[in-house]
Amino acid sequence: MRITKPGGDPVDLDTVDLFDHGLYATGDPHAIWAAMRGHAPVHRQTLPDGRGFWSVTRYHDVNDVLRDHTRFTSSQGTLLSILGSTDPAGGKMMAASDPPVHSALREPMGKVLSHSALQEHNPRIRRVVLRMLGPLLDGGVWDIARAAARFPMAFTGTLMGLPESDWPRLAGLTTMAIAPQDPEYRQSDGHGTLAAAHHQLFAYFSEQARNRKRHPSDDLVGFLVRMRAGDRPLKHDEIVYNCYSLLLGANVTTPHAVAGTVLALIEHPDEYRRWRQEPRRTSTAVEEGLRWASPANHFMRHATQDMTLHGVQIKEGDAVVAWLGSANRDEQVFPDPFRFDTARSPNRHVAFGFGPHYCIGAPLARIALRMLFTEIVAAVGEFALAGPVEHLTSNFVAGIKSMPVTARLDHQAAREIATAIAEEGQVAV
Ligand code: HEM
Repeated sequence: MRITKPGGDPVDLDTVDLFDHGLYATGDPHAIWAAMRGHAPVHRQTLPDGRGFWSVTRYHDVNDVLRDHTRFTSSQGTLLSILGSTDPAGGKMMAASDPPVHSALREPMGKVLSHSALQEHNPRIRRVVLRMLGPLLDGGVWDIARAAARFPMAFTGTLMGLPESDWPRLAGLTTMAIAPQDPEYRQSDGHGTLAAAHHQLFAYFSEQARNRKRHPSDDLVGFLVRMRAGDRPLKHDEIVYNCYSLLLGANVTTPHAVAGTVLALIEHPDEYRRWRQEPRRTSTAVEEGLRWASPANHFMRHATQDMTLHGVQIKEGDAVVAWLGSANRDEQVFPDPFRFDTARSPNRHVAFGFGPHYCIGAPLARIALRMLFTEIVAAVGEFALAGPVEHLTSNFVAGIKSMPVTARLDHQAAREIATAIAEEGQVAV
């Protein structure tokens, strides 16, 4: 998805199509979102087959929809891809449930994925970071988007105890599940692709869960097998759905935070120079990268009651889509939102959502992104594009599939990373 500052031609809000996956592959929804924030903060779109959804695009409305689970339920599915059907994971998968079921699932999982609990995994995450950067040090053209696509699989796969030989297939299947219309992932039609990806991922995690029941282990899958939601153990399908959700949550978002941030740095070289001069900026710069890239475009809810929002009547059962990418560019909240500012503060972006479903993987993503960019900022003096940027065909993920770059290396820092890679090379991830 391209990111350009709106301000050109007026947008006809009666004909816009935010459902269209192609818009995000070749176009840029920012002009549409800006027009909606300005003139139609609650906007209705009806698809040719009669299915329809409301869009909220302003920051505070997005927060309200995501926060208020009593008026906006997650249990009928949270992605536009499920619009008009019932989510079989409703009430079983944390992401597709409401309190109290949601809280009972989230509380124990939140503990093992907390910032403090993850500290013991930092050395492993660092090994994953170093491995990813290895090819960069060789010089030449490096496709950072394709490298980043493997990055979360490595750290989440390690935490979940999934064999490394399975990682490439799992990374491919999770992308198939969120971008079934993308020509690179599409098999037959989009629905068939989504069904095939789900079938294979559920069968995979079903087998993993059975293994852990036979051979208990202290990885995340083993944890879910032993975990209690309130006073009961999880059922087999609950374990499978939540394994799927954890892997999907990590795999389909984190790569695009990496590629999106690097693209922003190429387009804003002064900001990169400032970051390099002041490496202590890494935390704020990573947050700005998350706001800028907003890897998850939207999350959906369904109204549990009739209500009026900004004078618009919403009926019980209606789908309401909160556009995170729009909220993160709301000019009422973010001064000069189309300026990439590595020192932006405050920066209360909603790239990780808001309210009860706030991303449970945010501590892990932040640790990994900060480690990665600490090394990148030390080793790379400058990035340049070395080929076309290819975007993912998906209305859910604002993704970059391919982005060949060249890097001017800081040789001293690059040598230190190469030495660390050689030392770490002796140790398995
Ligand atoms: C840059 C990286 C990431 C981004 C931008 C991101 C974004 C989000 C967002 C916006 C939500 C809210 C969903 C909603 O409101 O319905 C969410 C929830 C979730 N994320 Fe992430 N995520 C990232 C990384 C991760 C990682 C690394 C994991 C796995 C460890 C993960 C697993 C999940 C899960 C399981 C949920 C559901 C939480 C709940 O329902 O309580 N995510 N994520």
